[in-house]
Amino acid sequence: MADIRFDGKVAIVTGAGGGLGRQHALELARRGAKVVVNDLGGSMDGSGGSSEAAQKVVDEIKALGGEAIANGSSVTDDAGVALMIKQAMDTWGRIDILIANAGILRDKTLTKMELADFELVMQVHVFGTFKPIKAVWDIMKAQNYGRIVVTTSSSGMYGNFGQSNYGAAKMAVLGLMNTLKLEGAKNDVKINAISPVAATRMTEGLMPPEVLAKLAPEYVTPGVVYLCSDEAPTGAILTAGAGAFALSRIYETEGVYLGEGGLSAEEVRDSWGQITAEDGQKAYFNGGEQGQKFFRKMAGG
Ligand code: NAI
Repeated sequence: MADIRFDGKVAIVTGAGGGLGRQHALELARRGAKVVVNDLGGSMDGSGGSSEAAQKVVDEIKALGGEAIANGSSVTDDAGVALMIKQAMDTWGRIDILIANAGILRDKTLTKMELADFELVMQVHVFGTFKPIKAVWDIMKAQNYGRIVVTTSSSGMYGNFGQSNYGAAKMAVLGLMNTLKLEGAKNDVKINAISPVAATRMTEGLMPPEVLAKLAPEYVTPGVVYLCSDEAPTGAILTAGAGAFALSRIYETEGVYLGEGGLSAEEVRDSWGQITAEDGQKAYFNGGEQGQKFFRKMAGG
């Protein structure tokens, strides 16, 4: 098959001033995309900001012979997001790809977590994913083409000590994806999620240097590039790190039909083995499929 190319395509990568986003932006540009490099340039906990981080990556792309423009807005800021879209449309007239990558951390156990720590993390990851998607959505639908990648995490899908805010936010973006994959299908707007593991400022200090050395962001980016391509699936959660790639899925067991009326908690308790039995478990593509199973079981199927 031919190489994956993005000639004539326009991409926006949020949080692309460093870490994973920078790598995604560089690789899209290498493969022909024109790129809006967004980055607030703040610290890891979301404080401060400068447009220098985005500009540096723009300079790198230009040095490689690519085309890019910088945007120093916060993905949570309505005016800043509108400006980012306007920059892309005024300069290149279309937006084909959006990688919602910007993120921060405010790790604390729940006992120590202030509401502000929860709110800010939700703002950046959830609203900071939603707002750029909302802003590009009708443009992509109107041109009958769009590729969106949201950034989730094993912390959300499986849990991680001290990350209740981050974990909640990273699952929220999957909920967003699950509905938008349905709403975008008719217009060839595909949306997928990347669940990365990479050595960036977010993970430095968490693992020994020899492990981090094997986790360069470059190992995640090929997965993201595929999810931005014409052949991309939709609604997939691709996990990537250190050169390993896998799919994460939510499975539902076949379960048990206990009948109608007069049901007791004890019957649920006593059926726990059947409820949790893994034989015949399935991943559904939409919520309605689960409902169909209930009715099938009710009918004795
Ligand atoms: P990073 O800290 O190097 O990059 C995040 C970038 O987002 C920074 O350049 C930062 O300035 C920017 N940013 C933060 N808030 C912003 C805002 N409001 N508006 C615009 N830009 C903003 O971290 P890394 O590791 O590259 O993270 C990228 C994404 O991958 C994040 O969503 C993170 O949660 C996710 N992730 C990373 C993992 C890892 O192992 N590094 C694991 C799982 C998920």
